Amino acid sequence: MTGEELVIRAEAAAANAYAPYSNYLVGASLVTKDARIYDGVNVENAAYPLGICAERTAIAKAASEGLRPGDLEAIGITASPCGGCRQWLHEWRFERVAFRREDGSIAEYTPAGLLPDGWDLPA
Ligand code: THU
Repeated sequence: MTGEELVIRAEAAAANAYAPYSNYLVGASLVTKDARIYDGVNVENAAYPLGICAERTAIAKAASEGLRPGDLEAIGITASPCGGCRQWLHEWRFERVAFRREDGSIAEYTPAGLLPDGWDLPA
């Protein structure tokens, strides 16, 4: 799937976001290298810091089906990923990250383009 196709899918998924505190609905759709698709949304909580971003929901769904870093090809997000999610995108070794810019255009990056000199736990 193209980055734009994933973003359009994420925009549909965002309707399921649980965001009663911010009212900011986010969706993320990822495709695995073997063509499985996982959609995620942000899920907020009354204890605000406990909420989870859409990107991490989608990755957690894939992880809980047994997928591992290197198995995920691309992700589309309805908006630019936050700093914490950029660390997750690095960890999971996506090949491509696409998102909708505020001007409506599609941005396409590698995880390294979004997080230069990405950090890994030393061996
Ligand atoms: N949010 C995401 O889901 N992904 C991001 O990368 C940025 C922020 C969510 C978290 C929170 O539920 C809402 O947007 C407002 O911060």
